[in-house]
Amino acid sequence: MSEKIRVLLSEEEVDSRIQQIAAKISKDYAGKEIHMICVLKGGVFFMCELAKRITVPVSLDFMSVSSYGDDTKSSGVVRIVKDLDQPLEGKEVLIVEDIIDSGRTLSYLIEILKSRNPNSVRLCTLLDKPERRIKDVTVDYCCFDIPDEFVVGYGLDYAQKYRNLPYIGVVELGAD
Ligand code: IMP
Ligand code: MG
Repeated sequence: MSEKIRVLLSEEEVDSRIQQIAAKISKDYAGKEIHMICVLKGGVFFMCELAKRITVPVSLDFMSVSSYGDDTKSSGVVRIVKDLDQPLEGKEVLIVEDIIDSGRTLSYLIEILKSRNPNSVRLCTLLDKPERRIKDVTVDYCCFDIPDEFVVGYGLDYAQKYRNLPYIGVVELGAD
């Protein structure tokens, strides 16, 4: 089967929207420091681009949870594959995600992180598919709402491929 990628959001669109969101975050956190938590691996490209444009001091930590196999379907199972290196006590935590789909991963993660006594926990996502929501999550910052289509690029993968595309695309499977 062949795979084609149709561009949904161009590199320019994504970059300029990240700039806008970074400016809003910098304003909202004026006088504070942000402890950014990247959800690996998908969130890593977005985290770097976002962090570079934020003007208040930031620290970074990384976590890996799994809710999906190497396919486009949710397994419904969420587990911590790699935990954070640093404690969250008293910090202004900003979770950085690639995409919110069913919301299962994030609702689970937010509860775990809140139990570690941060001063605040907010969520920033590059993409949101609101139609697909099963578990309620409050999204504080979202770059783009997208339709219910499987997307790749800017960190997002299809069977571990396409994470390095500098734009967001939809995978189209051909019969050949
Ligand atoms: P949720 O728990 O259903 O919200 O799933 C969130 C995770 O599923 C994301 O962090 C992605 O890793 C993955 N995911 C959901 N939709 C897509 C997609 O369209 N493309 C690539 N990965 C996706
Ligand atoms: Mg993810």
